[in-house]
Amino acid sequence: MRVYDIIEKKRNKKALTKEEIEFVITGLVDGSIPDYQVSSLIMAIYLNGMNDKEVTYLTDAMAHSGDMMNLEELFGNTIDKHSTGGVGDKTSLIICPIVASLGCKVAKMSGKGLGFTGGTIDKLDSIPHFKTSISKDEFIRQVNDINISIISQTGNIAPADKKIYAIRDITATVSSIPLIASSIMSKKIAAGDKNILLDVKVGSGAFMKTKKDATELATKMVNIGKNLGKNMMAIITNMDEPLGNNIGNSLEVIEAIEILKGKGNKDLRELCIILASNMVMLSKDISYDEANKMVIDSIKSGKALDKFREFVHYQYGDPNIINNYDLLPKSKYSYEVIATKSGYITKINSEEIGKIANILGAGRNTMDDKIDYGAGIIMHKKLNDRVKKGEVIATLYSSKKDLTDAFDKYGSSIVIGKTKIKKPKLVLGYIK
Ligand code: URA
Repeated sequence: MRVYDIIEKKRNKKALTKEEIEFVITGLVDGSIPDYQVSSLIMAIYLNGMNDKEVTYLTDAMAHSGDMMNLEELFGNTIDKHSTGGVGDKTSLIICPIVASLGCKVAKMSGKGLGFTGGTIDKLDSIPHFKTSISKDEFIRQVNDINISIISQTGNIAPADKKIYAIRDITATVSSIPLIASSIMSKKIAAGDKNILLDVKVGSGAFMKTKKDATELATKMVNIGKNLGKNMMAIITNMDEPLGNNIGNSLEVIEAIEILKGKGNKDLRELCIILASNMVMLSKDISYDEANKMVIDSIKSGKALDKFREFVHYQYGDPNIINNYDLLPKSKYSYEVIATKSGYITKINSEEIGKIANILGAGRNTMDDKIDYGAGIIMHKKLNDRVKKGEVIATLYSSKKDLTDAFDKYGSSIVIGKTKIKKPKLVLGYIK
């Protein structure tokens, strides 16, 4: 087999076979195929796409390029939720304890944030003494004892994806639906959960800017998972404004605890209940209504909050944060953003808001950047909220003193109009 022929075949819009795809992935990882040939093939895939069979073969080959976890063998029926990334998305901190309190097993490996979206691991790392790296034995014991552990991605998970992603990043080929689908799903397949719920975000703060693209991506990922023996479902959710009011690591932990206490932002609570109900439905094979009742009861009764406390304690974190938010990191300075005119908030550029959180110190631009865990934004006003000239619309937290850049950007990320807009729905569709 020759890579040249495989590139030529894809260039000519023909479907690749399982053997051809495996040949390329093996050669990429062992170094026998140079990056420039893989780059060329990736560009051909970007331009000509891949059918469901090809994407499944690619995903499976990338998953098998490194360690494969077998969570089914270890714990039986585990459930994972994966979000394609958004601004202020702290849903994992909320829904994982909820579903674990209902007997579902969550053995989750999560990532750190990069660019304008945050990562669950950074949020957990903002809890004093919390350990996101624990031994495999501790991880197994914890899931068996309390149904939940969330750790930083360890080992050699899908190394082919790392290489391909690095090539895509410098060859203008990131935004390809088959390549995004296989990238995300290869890591999910390697992680080894039986049940997977995907939260595919669409809007100004997401990778997918249109519902059409989000639906195509969700459908591809659901099909890949099903073809590889997983119990799959995807929910397409809106990201035209950041999720909840708080953006930034410790600020998001506070907001997650508020939801677990039955309080907090209405949209965030509603979305978490929908996601958690679907996870319980998938993993217990019961009706949505039954699962939804259980989820609501878990929050109302305090069972979900108790599970969060137990989870934090088990991973060496300080559970006293639940009743004393002052124990969480706080940036040295806070600044208020004031409305320059009266009206309603009619547009929020979520990606820009994510970038502002980065400028404040809440995120990183390269994997080696250090995070300021207390930095971030509290948005006091969201879409369709009425504002008066001179009113505080947001508070920015940072350890940096000069925030002219962040202020200017916040002002130009928000539009204040005369009348309310038709607010987009929280859930835009389901793919099963
Ligand atoms: N997340 C991933 O893991 N891969 C992509 O290609 C895009 C988002």
